[in-house]
This record gives sequence, structure tokens and C-alpha cells, in this order.
Amino acid sequence: MRNETLSLISSRRSHRAYEKTPLTQEQLDALLRAAVESPSAVNRQPWHFTVVRNQPLLDEMNAAVWEQMMKRDSNRRSPRFVDPDFHVFYHAPTVIFLSGMPDNPYTHIDCGIAVENIALAAESMGLGSVILGMPRDAFAGERADAFRQALHFPEGWDFAIAIAIGVPADTKEPHPVKEDRISFVD
Ligand SMILES: Cc1cc2nc3c(=O)[nH]c(=O)nc-3n(C[C@H](O)[C@H](O)[C@H](O)COP(=O)(O)O)c2cc1C
Repeated sequence: MRNETLSLISSRRSHRAYEKTPLTQEQLDALLRAAVESPSAVNRQPWHFTVVRNQPLLDEMNAAVWEQMMKRDSNRRSPRFVDPDFHVFYHAPTVIFLSGMPDNPYTHIDCGIAVENIALAAESMGLGSVILGMPRDAFAGERADAFRQALHFPEGWDFAIAIAIGVPADTKEPHPVKEDRISFVD
């Protein structure tokens, strides 16, 4: 079966290179609308969205993630860190951070659903995105509280996930599917 929604889901990829072109306000509004319209357990909406276009701040967070990553044994590091030019945010013009409500069992699931809504909305507008878990390390180092404040996380809330968005400057094949991950019980 094919329809517009299924095609959109199939065409989304993680993009890891971006043009400098900023997002328009109209695009941002539509992405955030798609985000807040996501379902959530008991409709708690346990998310806060922070739109970051401040590249020096993203550079600081990239450095903080590098610092944490280099403290780990090399076998516990993402292989991306062998490239000294690797940037956690891929120089995307916009990154949306989701911080999550504490003490709520569904926070991470709900934030995951919201971030995928953003990714699909971006795809529908001809934009590219990549969901980012790695920035988590910036909230473990010495500057964790300073970053939480700079990103306006509500008091007591913490990093859940982020998503970089922009005009893609790369192409990517679909990821290989693990076919054995589906069972039917009739
Ligand atoms: C929760 C989550 C965290 C992720 N974190 C990162 C990340 O920090 N950096 C990155 O480059 N990709 C990250 N990704 C993207 C995955 O690597 C990507 O979705 C996967 O390889 C499948 O490729 P596709 O998105 O192109 O289908 C993340 C994806 C998810 C769902």
C-alpha cells in the first residue's frame, strides 16, 4: 500500500551535513505545531522545546560532549569521534532541544514521539533532520547546569533528546532493516 504519509515515512533519513540557509519563521512555527500536537501519556505533555540558532552555544556544547567522550575508554566511544572535525550538531542552522519532566514514567517515550513528529514534519517541508542523543553528555559535565539554564530547561527538568534541522547537504541510503524483528501471533 502507498499513500502520502507512508511515502513520507519511507523517505525520511538522518542527514549529517547542512546548508547554512536558516529556517523561515513559517517553517519553525509548523515544526513546533507538529511537536506540540504529539500524543502523550495522560496528555501530560512532559516536554519543553528550546529552539537554538546560536552557533557559538552549539559549539560550546559540542566541546563539552567531546570532553566527556574523551574521558571514556576508546571502546566505549562513538566511532564518530575518530574524526577531529566531527561536530555533534553537524553545523545545522537550527537545533531543537527537548527537555523532559522528571518523575514521569512516560517522559522519554513521549519526547521520542514528539521528536519523530518534528522529523516527519521537516521531511514534509523538504528539510532534513537528525535526531540527536549524543548531546546528553553536555549535561553530565562541569557546565551541565549552565547549559540547562542557557537552554531555559524548566527547573528540575533534564535533557531528553534533540534534533538538528536544516536544508540537507548530503544524501543517504535507507538504513538496512532487521527483518527478524517482527512476529505474528494469530
Ligand atoms: C534516540 C536516537 C538518538 C540518536 N542519536 C544520534 C546522534 O547522537 N548522532 C547521530 O548522528 N545520529 C543519531 N541518531 C540517528 C540514528 O543513527 C539513525 O536514526 C539510524 O542510524 C537510522 O538511520 P536513518 O535515520 O537514516 O533511518 C539517533 C537516533 C535516535 C532515534
